[in-house]
Amino acid sequence: MIAVHIPVLLKEAIEGLLEGEGKAFIDCTVGTAGHLLELLSQTKDDVMVIGIDKDNKSLEVARERLKDFGDRVTLLFGGFEDIDTLIEPLKPPPIAGILFDLGMSSFQLNNPQRGFSYRENGPLDMRFNSAQSLSAKELINESSQENLLQLLRKFGEDKWSRRLSRVIVERRGTEAFETTVELSNFVRRNIPRRAAHKTLARVFQALRITVNNELENLKTGLVKAFNLLKIDGRIAVISYHSLEDRIVKNFFRILKEAELAVTGHQRCIRPSKDERMSNRRSRSARLRVINKRAELTNQMILNEYTELETVHESDTEGNE
Ligand SMILES: C[S@@+](CC[C@H](N)C(=O)[O-])C[C@H]1O[C@@H](n2cnc3c(N)ncnc32)[C@H](O)[C@@H]1O
Repeated sequence: MIAVHIPVLLKEAIEGLLEGEGKAFIDCTVGTAGHLLELLSQTKDDVMVIGIDKDNKSLEVARERLKDFGDRVTLLFGGFEDIDTLIEPLKPPPIAGILFDLGMSSFQLNNPQRGFSYRENGPLDMRFNSAQSLSAKELINESSQENLLQLLRKFGEDKWSRRLSRVIVERRGTEAFETTVELSNFVRRNIPRRAAHKTLARVFQALRITVNNELENLKTGLVKAFNLLKIDGRIAVISYHSLEDRIVKNFFRILKEAELAVTGHQRCIRPSKDERMSNRRSRSARLRVINKRAELTNQMILNEYTELETVHESDTEGNE
């Protein structure tokens, strides 16, 4: 039996979405359909639910799990950064709620062949969409030292980025990196033992974010989702690290300041202690929900958002 992903902040996210009335909802990150199943179970038969994911293997599992819901649910293969063109042919009723549950699922992480985990041996892949050409292997073996440094710093925020980018480029001059374990053993050998776990998590995070262009896609997806939403509709976003959360927080803040939306909660919602204990992946999760009040017509507002720096530029390698 396939181990599906345990949905994070399930009750809270679905509650947040369903506070608004409506006949159509979108799950932008279906995964193995944990949230989508709950959304379908809690809505009436005349409510249409659209699910999007750029991972065909996850969609296969989702399709099987959702088969009892018949034509109430439509699954679409693609990226949420294209949400507008993806859903257009379906001509759905006004969209009442849109969910983003960011990053990767345990279904992806736990499959060594996908290359997401530094604990498992597999090819250096990390693509959500296996049809995409750029993989982690190309990134690590072909990026310039400067580009490697930038991506490790920006998306991993690790203090060993400078040293690692230098030694990675030296080593691949004689032998290319092929597998996750080759890379993780190499990283371990080049940093202090006490830093290994955190640094490995950060290096793998940085590669995954870059391979999948995650932060730019999130920025685009959020704006398009807001434009698709009906007035009084809701967007709920679950993020797992500060780079994602910063984008969501800034976008929601800008909408609030422009009086285009209100937030239900002063702060983000975190998993309960019970959830954190029973599902380790939930530990870093943050849920933010916004309620749309007016259309985004002023391009100036968007300019502020798209130009926002999501990256800490400070050089933290002083201790290296
Ligand atoms: C945390 S999982 C979602 C898990 C899901 N909520 C569940 O309960 O099973 C994130 C999913 O988003 C997908 N994903 C990531 N970026 C995406 C994008 N830009 N467009 C569409 N899907 C994306 C990944 O392939 C992954 O399946």
